[in-house]
Parts: sequence; C-alpha cells; structure tokens
Amino acid sequence: MKQLLSQPWVSGSQMTFSLCLLSASLCPKVDTMDPLMAFLCLLPLYPGLAAEAPSCSRNVNISGGTFTLSHGWAPGSVLTYSCPLGRYPVPASRLCKSNGQWQSLRSTQLTKAVCKPVRCPAPVSFENGMFTPRLGSHPVGGNLSFQCEDGLTLRGSPVRQCRPNGMWDGETAVCDNGAGHCPNPGISVGAVRTGSRFGLGDKVSYRCSSNLVLTGSAERECQSNGAWSGTEPICRQPYSYDFPEDVAPALGTSFSHLLGATNPTQKKTKGVGRKIHIQRSGHLNLYLLLDASQSVAEDDFQIFKESAILMVDRIFSFEINVSVAIITFASKPQVVMSVLYDNSRDVTEVINSLNNINYKDHENGTGTNTYAALNSVHIMMNNQMQRLGMKTAAWQEIRHAIILLTDGKSNMGGSPKLAVDNIREILNINQQRSDYLDIYAIGVGKLDVDWRELNELGSKKDGERHAFILQDTEALYQVFEHMLDVSQLTDTICGVGNMSANASVQERTPWHVTIKPRSQETCRGALISDQWVLTAAHCFRNAENSSLWRVNVGDPNSQWGKDFSIEKAVISSGFDVFAKKDQGIREFYGDDIALLKLAEKVKMSTHARPICLPCTVEANLALRRPPGSTCRDHESELLNKLSIPAYFVSLNGNKMNINLKTGTEWISCIKAVSQDKTTFPDLKDVREVVTDQFLCSGMEKDDNPCRGESGGAVFLERRHRFFQVGLVSWGLYNPCGKSNKNSRQRAPKGKIPRDFHINLFRLQPWLRQHLEGILNFLPL
Ligand SMILES: *[C@@H]1O[C@H](CO)[C@@H](O)[C@H](O)[C@H]1NC(C)=O
Ligand SMILES: *[C@@H]1O[C@H](CO)[C@@H](O)[C@H](O)[C@H]1NC(C)=O
Ligand SMILES: *[C@@H]1O[C@H](CO)[C@@H](O)[C@H](O)[C@H]1NC(C)=O
Ligand SMILES: *[C@@H]1O[C@H](CO)[C@@H](O)[C@H](O)[C@H]1NC(C)=O
Ligand SMILES: *[C@@H]1O[C@H](CO)[C@@H](O)[C@H](O)[C@H]1NC(C)=O
Ligand SMILES: *[C@@H]1O[C@H](CO)[C@@H](O)[C@H](O)[C@H]1NC(C)=O
Ligand SMILES: *[C@@H]1O[C@H](CO)[C@@H](O)[C@H](O)[C@H]1NC(C)=O
Ligand SMILES: [Mg+2]
Repeated sequence: MKQLLSQPWVSGSQMTFSLCLLSASLCPKVDTMDPLMAFLCLLPLYPGLAAEAPSCSRNVNISGGTFTLSHGWAPGSVLTYSCPLGRYPVPASRLCKSNGQWQSLRSTQLTKAVCKPVRCPAPVSFENGMFTPRLGSHPVGGNLSFQCEDGLTLRGSPVRQCRPNGMWDGETAVCDNGAGHCPNPGISVGAVRTGSRFGLGDKVSYRCSSNLVLTGSAERECQSNGAWSGTEPICRQPYSYDFPEDVAPALGTSFSHLLGATNPTQKKTKGVGRKIHIQRSGHLNLYLLLDASQSVAEDDFQIFKESAILMVDRIFSFEINVSVAIITFASKPQVVMSVLYDNSRDVTEVINSLNNINYKDHENGTGTNTYAALNSVHIMMNNQMQRLGMKTAAWQEIRHAIILLTDGKSNMGGSPKLAVDNIREILNINQQRSDYLDIYAIGVGKLDVDWRELNELGSKKDGERHAFILQDTEALYQVFEHMLDVSQLTDTICGVGNMSANASVQERTPWHVTIKPRSQETCRGALISDQWVLTAAHCFRNAENSSLWRVNVGDPNSQWGKDFSIEKAVISSGFDVFAKKDQGIREFYGDDIALLKLAEKVKMSTHARPICLPCTVEANLALRRPPGSTCRDHESELLNKLSIPAYFVSLNGNKMNINLKTGTEWISCIKAVSQDKTTFPDLKDVREVVTDQFLCSGMEKDDNPCRGESGGAVFLERRHRFFQVGLVSWGLYNPCGKSNKNSRQRAPKGKIPRDFHINLFRLQPWLRQHLEGILNFLPL
C-alpha cells in the first residue's frame, strides 16, 4: 500500500549519523548540515570543543528503547525516549541543563530509563452488575467482561480488550433501568462517581483513582433535552496516546456543522456522528496555533508544521470557503497569518506561510504562554466583528475552529481558560450556538504531553472529544480524513476520492464504472460529468445495437451499484483497428476513444462522482491554478517529469500503480514493441504502431492492465484530487490468466510487458467537439 506520508528525514538523518561515525572524512561540509549533525561530526575531529562548553553525560541509554536529542548533548537539548508498541518509557524525556546536568522533566533525580509494559486501568466500581477478572490493572491483550443483574439491559460493550496504548476498546458498559430523565451516565473504567440521581437538573461528578488523569468533564448535569452536559470522563494512564481509529469517530462528531450543512440549533440524532460537512455554503475560520516553546523540540515543531499543512491542504481541496489564521507561540504569540488578511483564503499563501514559519523565531523567549496565544485569537475575532458589524449575519454565521498543536504545558501568562472564556463570550457561545466554536487540543509526535491541560483547553460537548494525542502526521491525516463528510457534496465537484486507508475501493475511485456491451468482453470507463462516461472505442467493435448496453455506476458488487442504459454512444470515427493492415500491422489502436451518454443523470454520492478532465475549468479549480491557465499549462503541470506515477483500476477495483513515461523515457518505453517479433513480425517503424496519441507504461515494477480493464481511466493525484490523463487501450502482455481474472502473473522470460494508453491531451479537438457545453474547456 502506498505510504501517504513517509518521513524521509528520519531515516535520512540516521544514515548521516552512521556515516559520520564510520569515517569523519565522509562528513558533508559543516555549514550545510543541521546543528546536531554538525556537532556529532565535529566531535572526532576536535574533541577539545566539546570540553569547553558543558555537555551532558551520554550515560542515558534506555534498555529496549531508543532516544532522540533535540540539540545534541548541548545544554537546552531535550532528550526524548521511545519504546516499542505496548511499552512506554520512564522517564519520557530529560532536559540538558545549563550546568551540563540532565534533568528529568518531571522529577529531579537521574534514574536509569526503562521501557515498562503498558497496562490498562481496572474498574473501581460497576453498578448493578459484575465484572471479571478482578485485577489491580490489566495487561495489553487482556479482556474484561461485564454482566448486568437480572432485568437490567447492558448498554455499551459487554467485553472490552486492553489495547497497546493502555486504553480499553469499546465503550463504557452501563446497566440501566431507563428510569431517569437522562440515561444512567455510567462509571467509566478507573473512575469514581458521586451522584446517583438522573432527573432533570441533577448533577454527577467524577474523579479518577490512583494516578490516572481525567479527560472529559469532571461534572455533568442532566439537561432538559435528556442528555448530559459536557463529555464522558475517561481516566487515562498519563502515558497513554490515541490511535486514529479512536479519534476519528470522536473528532468527526465534534467538527459537525462547521461548514453549515444543517441547522446548528437542530437537535442531533443520537449515535450519528457529526462531521465536517463539506459543502459550498457557509464560512469557516480555522485558527492554527503551533506551540514553539522549549518543551516542544524542533523536530516535534516540524511535525506540527507538517500536520497543519496537511489539514489546510485537504480542507482547501474541496473548494469551500475557509479563512486560515496561523499563530506560533512560546513566551509570546506571533501572528503569521490573520483571518483578516485577504490571502488567508488562498491555500497557496497559507501553505507558504506555514512553510516559512521558523522555530527559531521564539529563541529569545522559550516559555509557554498559551493564554497569550489564545488571546491573540480573541483580538483577531474582535477586529473581524468590528469590521463586519456585530449584528450582521456575515459575522454571526461564521463558524470558528481552533486547533492547538501543543504539549499542553503552559508555564506563564496565567490560565488559558480565561482566554477561552473571552472567546466564548465574543462569539456568544451558549447552548444554541455551541456549534459555532470548536477548540481542539492535539499533541502529535513523541511528545511528553500534559493530558490535564490538553483536556482543560479542548471544548467539551455532549458525546464528543476535543483533546487528542497522536503519534505522527500519518495518524493525524487518517483521523482528518474520517472527520470529513462529503455526503452533502451533491454537486459534481470532480476528482474527489476518499483517501482513508479504510475506505472501500469504490469510495477511493468513485468515477470508475463497468460497461457491459452484451455479448462482448466487459470494459471499464470513467464518469466525467453526471451523465457522460469516457471509455475506449475498441470495446464496441462488433457490438450490437447500443440500446442493449449497460453501464454500472457506483460499484457493481454493492448496494450502491446501479445499471444505466445508454442514450447515445459517440465512438470516434477515426478508430479502425485494421487501418494499417497493409503495413503488416494486424491491429492498430489510434483514436481508441468513445463517449457514452447515460439515459439519466447520476446522483452524486461518495460512490459516484466524476473525475477531473484536464484542460477544463473544473480541473483548473481543482489544481488551484489561476483562471487564465491553458491546456498546455495543465499538460506541463500533470506530465511534468520523465516518469510520472499514475494509476488505473483493476478488475476487482483496486488502484494499481504505473509510471507514465515522457520525453526520452517514452522513446525507450515504446522500443519494446519492435522487440516483440511475435506480435509485430516485420515492423519497420515503431511510431507507426505507437503514435503520439499513446502514453506508455509497463517498465520496471509497473502493474500491467488486464483484458477487461480497457477504457478505464489512467489518472494521477495532485493536491488531493484526481485527474484523468489517459485511458487504458492496449498492451503487449495480459497478466491475468484465462482461469482466474483476479490473479496477475509477471511476464514470462522473453516477454517484455508494455502498456499503451490514449493520451487525452492529444485528443482535445475530438473531446471538445463532443463535450461542448457539458464541460468548460480552457484555451489550448
Ligand atoms: C548505549 O547504547 C549504544 C548502542 O546500543 C552503545 O553503543 C553505547 O555504548 C551505550 N552507551 C552507554 C553509555 O551505555
Ligand atoms: C480476548 O478476547 C479476544 C476476542 O474475543 C480473543 O481473541 C483474545 O484471545 C482474548 N484475550 C485473552 C487474553 O483471553
Ligand atoms: C480501519 O480498519 C481496521 C480493520 O478493519 C480497523 O481495525 C480500524 O479501526 C479502522 N480504522 C479506522 C480509522 O476506522
Ligand atoms: C464563498 O466564496 C465564493 C467565492 O469567493 C463566494 O462567491 C460565495 O458567496 C461564498 N459563499 C459564502 C456562503 O460565503
Ligand atoms: C534574539 O536575541 C539576539 C541577541 O539580542 C538577537 O541577535 C536575535 O535576533 C534575537 N532573535 C530573535 C528571533 O528575535
Ligand atoms: C472516507 O470514508 C470513511 C469510511 O467510510 C468515512 O468515514 C469518511 O467520512 C470518508 N471521508 C471522505 C472525505 O470521504
Ligand atoms: C436498436 O434497437 C431498438 C429497440 O430494439 C430499435 O428501436 C432501434 O431502431 C435499433 N437501432 C438500430 C440502429 O438498429
Ligand atoms: Mg512548553
């Protein structure tokens, strides 16, 4: 599977490290290296240097784990330990003090670091039922079973398993008789509850046993709508972190209504997660606050930056109205981008600003003033309110999301809670307007996070969670993908696929359709609008009357699949497989292109949506190019390298990897045709068979399309959107045997696989002639 977000710098720097140790002469020039590498490389050459400035002891190994240093062994450097899955480091980190002594960030004495096994907490009490086994704490993989007394129904999970992050899977088990105005709120594992009346206005409060940390609401009140205020308290091990699959539903729930999909005052349906509804109306202000204080090492700050860029890039990929503010902070906040700036709505400008922010900007004040950071958001809001007018809809309808990337250890400026209160006041947040503000406190990376503060900062809403710790940007990306709900996106926005690792194949490539001309091999095609399908002409060779053909849209193997009949078939008149028979070319696939008009419009959904066709206004928006762009601009942006990673869809719906060759690489790619003496016995000029109309793939480790995959889109991903640059036409080798269509075999020795795809940039005149008024074409 494709790695979405590899972090080459991790392995890269390790490699440099070993190079340096092996031979000092291999060190790159010092001024081009990062300070840590420079320092390590210098050591063997100038041992005297290290002795002058105090440096911390290297006797910090952790058995069974690893560590990283933010600034080598120099004072100010933060050492962060990590352990394999299912274990956690004690201590989590150490700071090298100015006197050259290590200080553990939590306690003062220097103890040997160890990886300890993660354990899940045990229930303190369970009302009206029993649980087994009874242990002080539980090992990873262990199960906990709950049973209710006779006559009571169990809500939540009857069996829960301890997971490697120290959290139980499933949900809190509750034995409820359903008598109260509000449901029995239960007692989550590790918590103690005070209050056992569940009538209107009754309050319950919670605390956690031993050294567990409470996240969620410590007090909840039974409200008139029959729901408890706040969010369920969870008692966590201080070292626990979140897996994406835990966060996705909770976050998805909280981000609801941000973009105004539904009436925010409307009561939410129980059990249905609320998400970011992606649609064109409404306006979102997204405030990104990045902690650059000393406790967040530069590497972690880098992860914050990457995470912020990812979120911004994905949000903007839907062409919705968002303004982004960027604030970095340590002792003081620095406003890098304000929602008041015009360029805060421009993704390129926002990402540029994020790329340009510098950890070192805060080198002279490395405290953590979360209050001041949030207060600068308050000031920004106030300015925007003055500008738009307090009573105007333009102001009141804006939704605000604050994402704070931090380790939650504020140590100056006073309580951040005060700034949050001011923000709530200016936005007039009350029960009716609670959907207009969401504050997320998220730790990403190998941070030693303060759960208590993270929890205090995050919003608390019924059934929702706003404080998270994730291990890397990849985890955050997966979470973010699950927060987004495109089901409201009913217009024909092109090239939007679901990028979650868990999405179904059709959700990932919703434009993909199956074409069934009766009594012929099936073919594939791509929706390019809500009523037109692009495919190959050769699919209809010898086919009977087109009124018998069917196109299945939305996955033939699921409830989403629907057969459409065809109103009109436009098969390129230039296509003639025997056109070059005289030249000894038995089959020729020039102009292998066709368009089908479906008998009715397809209803857009997560399973059916068009792909972007380059050289159209729609694709230009998706590429985020300026309005004056041309078809040639698209070609040079999309086919911009000698070898371009691209995809096609296999018979079973999987996205297969190929590399499209251009320029000199294209010339070498097509050469294989003349070497294939069985198919082309006496070919004089390869270009007679492979004209400029064809893209070429199949070199190196490329997948090869099978019979039956013809007509399907050959597409690329740019800026989280998908663009069709070609369509599968023909090849030298069919990797799917006759028996099993889903098992692909590598080409036998002596057979050189090559695949050729109609290049849509070369068939622009034909596409324009037939799609005039259906798509909006750019000048050539
Ligand atoms: C720490 O571990 C590394 C590799 O595991 C080893 O080379 C080094 O000698 C150890 N250092 C100390 C001070 O124990
Ligand atoms: C816990 O339950 C799961 C699923 O029922 C099972 O696969 C696992 O082996 C159980 N673990 C233990 C320690 O019994
Ligand atoms: C993805 O699917 C796997 C396996 O079905 C599941 O364990 C995991 O929770 C899912 N992840 C998300 C983010 O839903
Ligand atoms: C969204 O932005 C577009 C273009 O800037 C604008 O025409 C439209 O009115 C905006 N919609 C809302 C609801 O603000
Ligand atoms: C920090 O202080 C030093 C010395 O006063 C100054 O040269 C440097 O520019 C300051 N750095 C920043 C980011 O303000
Ligand atoms: C992607 O698919 C997942 C799982 O079906 C879903 O929860 C999520 O909302 C989808 N996201 C997008 C952007 O389509
Ligand atoms: C195709 O079949 C339909 C109905 O069977 C018929 O009305 C139509 O004339 C036929 N068209 C051609 C070109 O044979
Ligand atoms: Mg800090």
